[in-house]
Amino acid sequence: MSEMWHYSRRALMMKSSVIRETLKITQKPGIISFGGGLPASELFPTKELAEAAQKVLTEHGEKALQYGLTEGYLPLREMIAERASRQGINVSADEIMITGGSQQGLDMCGRVLLDWGDVVISARPTYLGAIQAFNAYFPKYVTLPSDDDGMTVDGLKEILETNDARMIYLVPTFQNPDGRTIPVHRRQRILEIAKTYGVPVIEDDPYSELFFEGTVPSPMKALDPDIVISLGTFSKLLAPGLRIAWLIAPPGVIDRFVRMKQGADLHTNTFAQYLIYEFAQNGKLDAHIKKVRELYSHRRNVMIEAMEHYFPDEVKFTRPNGGLFLWVELPAGVNTTTLLTKAVENSVAYIPGSAFYPEGGGDNTMRLNYSKPNETEIEEGIKRLAKLFKESLTKK
Ligand SMILES: Cc1ncc(COP(=O)(O)O)c(C=O)c1O
Repeated sequence: MSEMWHYSRRALMMKSSVIRETLKITQKPGIISFGGGLPASELFPTKELAEAAQKVLTEHGEKALQYGLTEGYLPLREMIAERASRQGINVSADEIMITGGSQQGLDMCGRVLLDWGDVVISARPTYLGAIQAFNAYFPKYVTLPSDDDGMTVDGLKEILETNDARMIYLVPTFQNPDGRTIPVHRRQRILEIAKTYGVPVIEDDPYSELFFEGTVPSPMKALDPDIVISLGTFSKLLAPGLRIAWLIAPPGVIDRFVRMKQGADLHTNTFAQYLIYEFAQNGKLDAHIKKVRELYSHRRNVMIEAMEHYFPDEVKFTRPNGGLFLWVELPAGVNTTTLLTKAVENSVAYIPGSAFYPEGGGDNTMRLNYSKPNETEIEEGIKRLAKLFKESLTKK
């Protein structure tokens, strides 16, 4: 019967992501996967979360299991405001809305800001999940290339001059997929230009608290609160399965998001909001984040050392100072999508970089994740990749 149904253009145009498809292949037993973007599950603080859950149910059960505000649980929003102030973002809880993952925040940005054919400006490469979220609103992408400092600015003015752009979407800190970070002077330049043209900047920031050494540039939201909508999430700081994240938007703008979310799902899971709030008390969240940073920093080091040792010299890669991913660039002519089949035969997987190019390109690049595989797997997986790279380079 369902073959006779008519689907919306939106449903017809939604494609499954390369990441989902690749992750399916990587379920193969024995495969070393650098493909996903999963946190190290061995760090999930299950015991402390169980205690927090018990406390929430015993002490606040009637509220924690009840419908809640669309904006989210106020003490959690106050806590997020306090944490944001440590990064120089001075906002009140009224400017914060809790979302079901940042992925929902991205969808809400699409709903609130995009009509059919509107232009989204982003870096290339950029986060694939954002492209998927925005695609439901049929935008057109205009992208700018990245250098070691993330999205370049040359040409941004011209794009804004000649297009009806509705947002500049950025992951300015330890970007998924390439691990690059935009330095402050470039952030300021982007904000200046965005301001001139009255276009909001979406700062998608799941990773800035997961830095390894030194300091992190000020968030764009801290540099110019009026034109930035910022997204944060507990997914990588604590546990993605809880699906709790937040969106910060200027007063007046946040109301539009709240109205939109009301229609979508009334509000985010109340119990999970109480749970995170309870868990975070007495410095437990900060202590946990410290552990996450230490482990990922170590795994990044293991990956980079292995890459320096085994990869042929022609292969370039980024050295991120935080986050979960690094980016590998092979000489032009090597196609990492074709190479993936061979890689999977050799029990190693990655995400081909072209997935992160909304306008096409990036065929010779790939994203590697170092948070999920353990140190032994990282070393072995890099060896396997190095062998494949050498073979495909000698064939060229
Ligand atoms: C840049 C970026 N934005 C958003 C998300 C989605 O995060 P969440 O689990 O909060 O939906 C991710 C997840 O990997 C991400 O890398």
